[in-house]
Amino acid sequence: SANGLHEYYSGYFPIGVAVSPRALEDSAQSALILREFNSMTPENVMKAGPIHPSPNQYNWGPADAVSYYAKENDLKLRGHALVWHQQYPGWFFKDENGDQISKDTLYARMKSHITEVVNRYKDVIYAWDVVNEAVSDNSDFVYRQESPYYQIAGEEYLAKAFEFAHAADPQAKLFYNDYNAARPEKVDRIYTLVKKLKDAGVPIHGVGIQGHWSIFEPSEKDLRYAIDKYASLGLDVQITELDVSIYPWEKERRAMKPGESDEFTNELEEKQLKQYDMFFRVFRDYKETLTGVTFWNISDQYTWLDTYPVEGRKNYPLLFDQELKPKKAYYKVTSFDQ
Ligand code: G3I
Repeated sequence: SANGLHEYYSGYFPIGVAVSPRALEDSAQSALILREFNSMTPENVMKAGPIHPSPNQYNWGPADAVSYYAKENDLKLRGHALVWHQQYPGWFFKDENGDQISKDTLYARMKSHITEVVNRYKDVIYAWDVVNEAVSDNSDFVYRQESPYYQIAGEEYLAKAFEFAHAADPQAKLFYNDYNAARPEKVDRIYTLVKKLKDAGVPIHGVGIQGHWSIFEPSEKDLRYAIDKYASLGLDVQITELDVSIYPWEKERRAMKPGESDEFTNELEEKQLKQYDMFFRVFRDYKETLTGVTFWNISDQYTWLDTYPVEGRKNYPLLFDQELKPKKAYYKVTSFDQ
């Protein structure tokens, strides 16, 4: 019988987890990772800001630690993220006078950054989130307007990013990755963007549905719609950053008000369990399509939702509790006929 999520799901897809080097050094968390997961994504350390702090300086140490751990322990590794409008180094879009760089300089910098980073980890990373979150949340626009990449180069930067990554590692599966990627109206815009790239012959191989979801969304219908739509492009589909918040999206993103509680009540646990159950039932139905399901963080002991974008409200979005013990939802998603 199976012991560990990835064993239950061995006939389906790899089960991944977002990690920091610090979590890997912690013996309890490391033991949990090795028991439950067979894939990892570095949560922050391979992003441009942390890994490339100044033009001629790369901070390889933390990223090397994650890649070494993956190799030593035979875990798959997803790279995250080459081109993003957040967590980029301050110098990246500016010249020595502090003015915005030209498109040509941007491409030269993207090329050099992508080539260095992809090259260094090509023996262990099998898939990269090449462009992250380029689609606008505002339905008036396809592209995120405030992205410096977009402001400097327009939509063409997307194709360039994939081309540079493909040249650096022709074996790697290259993904477009985004959030709210199962809200039907945004699904359609992500689909349009990815289709355009694919039709133009850009080396893109997958769509990452981040999966920062909640007990309120998405519905089963919307989730199936999203997976079907991306799969219809003939690309890999992965769930890349799964967690199930106990708060609605808007509430999660504002400070707590007096009188509000952040207790994980039995009622909330029950709702979360039902949502996780539905998600994994759908994922299993799509085992021919989904090539990975990755959780964003290990346990409720640490989740990015506790600190970002507002601090002070505790969340409980994962399958393991603050003592690293499996929650009821864990037993639910692992009880099915294999
Ligand atoms: O490393 C610094 C530390 O030196 C400093 O003292 C501290 C004070 O604020 O900040 C630390 O950096 C923080 C970093 O996480 C590492 O902990 C940043 O402030 C904080 O903004 C950053 O948050 C990350 C967030 O991306 C940034 O947008 C989260 O950990 C990370 O989980 C989150 O991950 C993203 C995915 O990459 C893309 N999809 C959405 C997902 C969730 O937002």
